Amino acid sequence: MRHLMSPLDFSVEELDKLLDLANDIEAHPEKYAHKCDGKKLATCFYEPSTRTRLSFEAAMLNLGGSVLGFHSADSSSAAKGESVSDTIRVISCYADICAMRHPKEGAPLVASEKSRIPVINAGDGGHQHPTQTLADLLTIRSIKGRLNNITIGFCGDLKFGRTVHSLINALIRYDNVRIVLISPEELKVPDYVRDDVLRANNIEFKEVEKLEDAMGELDVLYMTRVQKERFFNEEDYVRLKDFYILTKEKMELAKDDMIVLHPLPRVNEISVDVDDDPRACYFRQAQYAVYVRMALILTLLGLAED
Ligand code: NCD
Repeated sequence: MRHLMSPLDFSVEELDKLLDLANDIEAHPEKYAHKCDGKKLATCFYEPSTRTRLSFEAAMLNLGGSVLGFHSADSSSAAKGESVSDTIRVISCYADICAMRHPKEGAPLVASEKSRIPVINAGDGGHQHPTQTLADLLTIRSIKGRLNNITIGFCGDLKFGRTVHSLINALIRYDNVRIVLISPEELKVPDYVRDDVLRANNIEFKEVEKLEDAMGELDVLYMTRVQKERFFNEEDYVRLKDFYILTKEKMELAKDDMIVLHPLPRVNEISVDVDDDPRACYFRQAQYAVYVRMALILTLLGLAED
């Protein structure tokens, strides 16, 4: 039995297969409409979510399966003090696969150790968000046609942004990926990302503060929201929240075929008038997330080869 805690749980070859499957699902959804008949997905969300939970549920429903779950810690027995280990042992009696989001780093991993069904990390604190990474990889590969030979800029909250940490981990396995980290001093990537991931793997990267300075060299711009819920004080959040706003004017500095991604939700960091730019791909990214989660559910349930 396999779980998904980090994008590195799959080899590059396995990831290629998973992304191929997602593209096939996109092209021929009818082929997959009954693959999960009789199967159940549990979504255990101890933290708010719109896209991740609903796209997991849509993915399972598209496959013919059904869904059950809870969408906040308050509405589960966590409010009574139950541990994730106990909760997952019980959920294992009700469902065939579980997607779990938790504010504590490592909680889905703890759950997976006691689980009798595959557990998917749907975001653990500021740590990792591997299924968002799968959606990001599928979007880049589908639109740009490749995952190697790209310069990608990550902009915004690189300290608490778990989608950034997961995507960096995944991308460094492809050839000739250059990374530009665009953030204010206070929101730079954690040291372990800089030292143990980027430096340790000899990845070409630089850190800049101004988005304008990086714009012209990027193939992909990955915008992020300042993660309000992980700040220790409101004052810092208020000071940093509007540090970057991607506008039409700034888009003029970018290549004609650069793409803009954002895991969403957006707050102010991308002006709505950028949405009509053909390079704005964040809503397509949300659509790709459904196909890739369908591919993931099939893979973890051992139904991908049928
Ligand atoms: C992200 C998350 O939850 O980390 N959202 C998502 O799953 N698409 C990004 C965010 O909340 O800023």
